[in-house]
Amino acid sequence: VSARLLDGRALAGRIRTRVAVEADTFRRQTGRSPALRVFLIGDDPASDVYVRNKLKASAECGIAGETVRLPAETTSAEILGRLATANGDGAVDGILVQLPLPPHVESRAVLDAIDPLRDVDAFHPENVGLLHQGRPRFVPCTPGGILELLDAEGIEIAGRRAVVVGRSEIVGKPMAALLLARNATVTTAHSKTRDLPDVCREADILVAAIGRARFVGAAHLNPGVAVIDVGMNRVVGKLCGDVDEEAADRIAAARTPVPGGVGPLTIAMLMSNTVRAARLRCFGSA
Ligand code: GUN
Repeated sequence: VSARLLDGRALAGRIRTRVAVEADTFRRQTGRSPALRVFLIGDDPASDVYVRNKLKASAECGIAGETVRLPAETTSAEILGRLATANGDGAVDGILVQLPLPPHVESRAVLDAIDPLRDVDAFHPENVGLLHQGRPRFVPCTPGGILELLDAEGIEIAGRRAVVVGRSEIVGKPMAALLLARNATVTTAHSKTRDLPDVCREADILVAAIGRARFVGAAHLNPGVAVIDVGMNRVVGKLCGDVDEEAADRIAAARTPVPGGVGPLTIAMLMSNTVRAARLRCFGSA
């Protein structure tokens, strides 16, 4: 058998087309485009690429994107000041602080300072709380994109076993919450999990968000599983996921490629959240 490839790039294109229509409608209703302000602090090369891709997607969707670039030495206080300005700017709908921040910056304080109504990453504790209560205001971009992909590909969630490997605030934790809200039986596994391959082999849906190249192999895969690879590892200049593709092709029913799987969906969902933020603030509902 050869696993069916789940085309995240194609779905991302369809989502962006939908968002472009919504952004245009918003512009005709209000006289301005939805606006996204992205803060990029320091000079992490990967972050630079991600932010450029976010701005490019914004332009293509009719969203007014703007990058605020600050040097690596910028203090937490300076960043908090810039966020206060953005929070008070009626023409800014979405605010995003690209992670990781330089080590001296108090990341938690910075993320907590983003106006929850403009928090298009959904990292603010108020938005995390709403998500975990099953009434999301914004859905975090990567896990939200994964749900869209599972739905678009007709992969059933309710009643099935989902294993999420990784417990980050950005992917693992919100992914588990969203799958639970859709009535999956969810296990969150991580670096301390005993007998990880056995746990993973229980999965009908396996989400790998570990950050180690080709960590998930034949021993982790249940025949027929749908494998979602969130990994973005650079191995001798080549981008590679957390899943061994060759093993997944042999054993899984379906898998996302890297690149062209989850990555494009993350950006498409950011666009979607930005229009949602604009509507929420302007009309009181999305
Ligand atoms: N760095 C890696 N992924 C993300 C993300 O989804 N949002 C932000 N702000 N930074 C990131």
